[in-house]
Amino acid sequence: MNAPAQILKDEHASPAERLWALAAEDMAAVDAIILERMDSPVGMIPNLAQHLVGAGGKRLRPLLTVAAAGLCGYEGAEHHKLAAAVEFIHSATLLHDDVVDESELRRGKKPANLIWGNSASILVGDFLFARAFNLMVESGSMKALGILSNASSVIAEGEVQQLAALRDVKMCEDAYMQVISAKTAALFAAATEVSPVIAGRPGAEREALKAYGLKLGLAFQLVDDSLDYGGFETALGKSVGDDFREGKMTLPVIRAVQKADKEASLFWHRVIVDRQQNDVDFETAVSLLRTTGALDSTMDLARQYSRQAREVLDVFAESPWRSALQDLADYVVERIN
Ligand code: IPE
Ligand code: IPE
Ligand code: MG
Ligand code: MG
Ligand code: MG
Repeated sequence: MNAPAQILKDEHASPAERLWALAAEDMAAVDAIILERMDSPVGMIPNLAQHLVGAGGKRLRPLLTVAAAGLCGYEGAEHHKLAAAVEFIHSATLLHDDVVDESELRRGKKPANLIWGNSASILVGDFLFARAFNLMVESGSMKALGILSNASSVIAEGEVQQLAALRDVKMCEDAYMQVISAKTAALFAAATEVSPVIAGRPGAEREALKAYGLKLGLAFQLVDDSLDYGGFETALGKSVGDDFREGKMTLPVIRAVQKADKEASLFWHRVIVDRQQNDVDFETAVSLLRTTGALDSTMDLARQYSRQAREVLDVFAESPWRSALQDLADYVVERIN
């Protein structure tokens, strides 16, 4: 008996382990496509791409495409190409993101731009984007191409919107929700929506899976933004405090600013607007996020979206895929990496 089959029979396996076991064969096929399509005769491309892709990552978005296809009873093989395209879009945005965010750690390693330089990272990111589009076209579904290309432009809009709002200490929750919905949740929603589309499922199922992806993506970014203050670098494989150093207004900060007294307001103004930060400021920020309940309330909102994601899948009949996707919603808010 192989490992995935053992896990599926194990009553004590965690929800995440069960989903991985259920999707193991599909994900092996997706990984094979990713490896094959990363290749290029221009040596720097596979070297740089392998640095990021070979470092792992949770492969959460392609897993969503594969699991949604399973839930829809899809019997073809085109979902593997679409799942690989989804991970390529994600990988491209990470290469670009680390340049924009000046990150120092990605997937437990030095980000590619600190090794090969910003220009190389941006250009290889473009290459991966382009390879994603090759795969979408090869899938033969114009509708899937439409969904994923739309998500790609929405992600870029979200990133630009976030850039324009940098250091705006008055940024409101609505604007923040718009940013994370675009930069993160749009790809989750597209990843789940393409599967009912290629499976030819009715509109209600397509809408449910799209809503599931969107809500899961919102919960995911809310948790990411909490972990940037409350997480552990070794588990995350990313530096904590990146958002703070950049003066990025994420929900924990927006809520702490709302509750700030005179002294705390001056603090936030200095570190966010003036960007004058010293060694102990990050610690002070974390403590303000805790004492004002801003971190807790951000996690509460993440749990609300996660619950809603779980509920929208009730339109599907009970199945191992449905349970796995519903349990994934819990994993997303409990995760530490
Ligand atoms: C990181 O995504 C980017 C965000 C949207 C927060 P992941 O946390 O899924 O990154 P990997 O792929 O597992 O490294
Ligand atoms: C990621 O947001 C958004 C993307 C679409 C890449 P972050 O900038 O918070 O992601 P991490 O924390 O660097 O992974
Ligand atoms: Mg970023
Ligand atoms: Mg970043
Ligand atoms: Mg982050």
